[in-house]
This record gives sequence, structure tokens and C-alpha cells, in this order.
Amino acid sequence: MTRRLVIVGSGVAGLYAALLATDAATAGGRDIEVVLLTKGTLEQSNTFFAQGGVSAVLAPGEAAPGDSVAAHIADTLTAGAGLNDAEAVRVLCTEAVRDIAGLGRYGVHFDAGPDGGPALGLEAAHSAARILHAGGDATGACIARGLVAAVLERTAQGRLRVETGAFVTELRTGRPRQGPLAGAARVTGVDYLSKGHPRQLDADAVLLATGGAGRLFARTSNPSVATGDGLALAWRAGAAVRDLEFFQFHPTTLAADELPGGPPALLISEAVRGEGAVLLDAAGYRFMPDYHADAELAPRDVVSRSIALHLAAVGAPADSPVFLDARGIEAARGPGFLARRFPTINAATRAAGYDWTTQTLPVSPAAHYWMGGVSTDLWGRTSVPGLYAAGEVACTGAQGANRLASNSLLEGLVFGRRAVEAFLGGPGTEMGPAATAAGSRAELPAAEPGVQTVPFSRDALRRLMTAAAGVMRTAAELDAAARRLAEWAAGTAGEDRSVLDQSGHEDRNLLLAARLLVAASLKRTSSVGAHYRADAEPAAARPALLAVPARSTPPAG
Ligand code: SIN
Repeated sequence: MTRRLVIVGSGVAGLYAALLATDAATAGGRDIEVVLLTKGTLEQSNTFFAQGGVSAVLAPGEAAPGDSVAAHIADTLTAGAGLNDAEAVRVLCTEAVRDIAGLGRYGVHFDAGPDGGPALGLEAAHSAARILHAGGDATGACIARGLVAAVLERTAQGRLRVETGAFVTELRTGRPRQGPLAGAARVTGVDYLSKGHPRQLDADAVLLATGGAGRLFARTSNPSVATGDGLALAWRAGAAVRDLEFFQFHPTTLAADELPGGPPALLISEAVRGEGAVLLDAAGYRFMPDYHADAELAPRDVVSRSIALHLAAVGAPADSPVFLDARGIEAARGPGFLARRFPTINAATRAAGYDWTTQTLPVSPAAHYWMGGVSTDLWGRTSVPGLYAAGEVACTGAQGANRLASNSLLEGLVFGRRAVEAFLGGPGTEMGPAATAAGSRAELPAAEPGVQTVPFSRDALRRLMTAAAGVMRTAAELDAAARRLAEWAAGTAGEDRSVLDQSGHEDRNLLLAARLLVAASLKRTSSVGAHYRADAEPAAARPALLAVPARSTPPAG
């Protein structure tokens, strides 16, 4: 009997998993049908916007001298504040090289250095240069284009079914009468809107690869599709979730007015700081050495938090930009270096009116990556049989409390492949015991019916989440946010979901994701990694603020 695997989402995890499952079915003569559903086009994903690259320690001779998988593991654990699942980190770093080769088989190749070997970049909190990049700073776009081309080839051959404009509204569950999982609720298919029309699809397994939820916040590097759909689907189907209080804010996105539903904030890759760019305040003072020994190359959560602390220390409004100074790079590496190494950033900043070879760039932190997600074991298995998750929507524990730069595309590759391997193992291997142990189903505070003091809108939600659950958090603000979110949820409780369009479903998913994030943040009363509880920090334990002297050099060059 044909087994059907439905993959939801077309970022790196979904595309790679679809290719591996399709090819395994063909090569092994297996009776497996693979269906890829994605709500936008195949290219609309967080993956497409990834600049920096994929971290991997290559074979000796290709890796940086002295680098090792053990060092990659240690860096991942340090950046994750030690809250990582050690075994997930070991798998991630050890198997990286295998999936870099896997990408090569699908026609995705990385930039070469002058000696013809792979060009390795350095990013914050990595102890060695080990970041593979493509198209300079267009790594995600190059990977996505390569994988999409391979997907379309298989679609044309009739080996893989793809539906774009297919928005999954609910996971269907049932209880089989017989077999090894008799009586247990399992996933049996999906309900979805196909270009707005309701459809159903039976499935033997569903792999969620729907990405994150940056659109919860006012400033984000994520495209408009990042609305927390997979997390909400999994939660409603009864899956355990974990680590939801850990949301990473990227320190350097070009400061500009954000429009709700508009394009993402322009990322200025960490690789730019890896090449030597520094951060200045409005007075031209380089402040990061006051906050961390690694200065601009401290872990990402530290840099974002230090920006917030420094703005407060100098009495600047919390939403003021700081300034990224890359002028020294051009001076050191020669004219044209920035344009060659970072063509995407170069073009986009020039389009925004900046010449970064002679001017500093105004930058601000923006919501970037959710470490938490649907709890899975090391094979992508969630606590609901038949439901797998991989990539940003999942939480294997590999990223801990703060993800190390360029470990996200890698996680989508390694655990997307592993989820496919688990699925191919057959129905008896579906249950992920580790996933149930590590995740939780703590109930959300009841939504009390009452008057909505502020009507729900995405804009109101994004502003609320930024104020209460952004880089700095306090119990009072989180409590107030939880109450407002519950009020909004109560307001939608009676709505007829069958008449909702995609945008209405996304609102519902964002609201649920926000409630889960805030509930998790309230539970963790101390600061760790990307979760900073300003109210729980004794003044003495806060990062030391050295004297902030008056400056002379204006940062705008
Ligand atoms: C960046 O290029 O700075 C982002 C890469 C990442 O999120 O790992």
C-alpha cells in the first residue's frame, strides 16, 4: 500500500527532505508518495533571506587549521548558554559534513577561496572560520534556488507532487483500531486552503517545516510568511513544545521604518562583523568592548542586549539606532572588497541611500530566529505519532538558549534528513519518546470573556510583543501582555473558522504563538541566553557599564 508523506513548508528543511524522500522512494522501489505543500511560492521562506552561511567543519585539509568538530560543538554549547541538548549538538556538528555533501548532489555549491578550496568565513562566537557561503552573502538564496530547481525537475518527472498557495489550516488526527499504535491519537492528514479553496489530504505522516514566527514582532528580518503556523498546528494537534522563551534578536539590521506586513528589515550579516566591522553609538564611541571580551564577536544575544543596555546607559530612546562601521574593512582589504564579498548588502544599502565604504550604517536589533518550537527527538519525531518537525519550527534542543550564527540552515538540513530516515524506517518507528519527555503541554491561562480594551490587529500584536517580550522582559510587562493576549483570544473563541481566509488563520496562529511564548517567558524567572528578565537581575550582576566618555567622532562618516 502506498504510504504518503506530506511535507509542509519550502525552506531548506522542507525542500531537502522532499528531495531525499523522493529519491529514496525511487532508488529503493518503495511505494511512497511525497507531497510538498507551501503557502506561498517555493522561494518564499526565511531560508531565502539567509546571508551568512552554513557552519560546518570540513575534512582535514579543507577546514581551517586547528579547527575541529569538537570546537564547533563547544562553540554551539557556549553560545547556547549550556541549555542545549548535548546529543543534539553532537549530531548537528558531526553530521554537518554529510549534508554539505548532500547539497552538492543537488547542485548547491559554496564559494571557493583563492586557492580553489572552500572560502571559510568567520562569524560571531565561532572560534574558527568555518562558515561556508554562496554568492558572497546570498547563501540562503543560492541554496533555495538550487533545491527548488531539483524539486521542479522531480515534479516534471511525476515523482514529487508540489502545491504552492496551499495553506494548511489544521492537522487531522485519529486513533487507529489496529497495529502497533492502536488507540493512540496520530496524524492522519491535513486540512488546507488551496488558493483559498478548502481541501483535505490523507497522510501516513506529516513533516512540518514551516519555519519561525518573526512576524510576532514589530522589527524582524523574517518575510511575511513567518507567522508561526507550524507551531500552532502542532500545539492544536496535541504536540509538546519547548524552549519558547528563547527568541533571538539579530543585532544588526538596517534601521528603517517598519510597515506591518511589509518587507523584512534588511539584515547586515554577522559576517560583516566577522570581517572586522565595529559598532559605534551616536557619539561615535565603540561600546561593545565595555560589555564583552569578544566585543562585536560576542554571541548574538549578548550583542543585542548590550545595544539595549548601552542606549539606556547613555539616555537614548530605546528604539534609537547604533552605527555599524565597516569603513575599516574596505581600507584594510582594498577598494571593492565590500561589494565583492557582500554583493547583496552592498546593493541594498546603496539602494537605501548609504555608501558603506565611506559612511556608517544605522542598525537596530530585529526578531530573527526562534530557538524554541515543537519538541522533537533526534529523528524529527514529535510527541504525536506520525507528526515530524524539522528546521526552525522544531526544537531539538541543539540551539539551546541562543543559536550560534549559521547553525540554522545546518539544523534544517541535518534534522530534515533524519526525519525522512525515520519516516522511511516504517510505522513502528514513529513515536519519539524523547520528544514527550523534553517538551511540555502546560495549559495556557484561560481566556476570560470580557471587553476588549484594545481591538486585535497584527500591528497591535507586534507592538505588544516588542514591548513585553523583546530583548528585555519584566514580569509586570509579560503579565500585562498575557492578559491582553487572553482577551484577544477570548474575542476570537466563538468565530467560525471555516470561513476564515489565510490571513485570518495566520492571525489565529500568531496569537497562539504569542500566548505560548509569553507563558514560557513568565515561567522562566531568571535570565539566560536570549531570555533576559531585567526585573530578575540584581544591578551588580548586570553587564558592567564602564564610564561612557563623551565622544568626538560623529558616526555618520
Ligand atoms: C547572518 O548572516 O548574520 C545571519 C545568519 C544566521 O542567522 O545564522
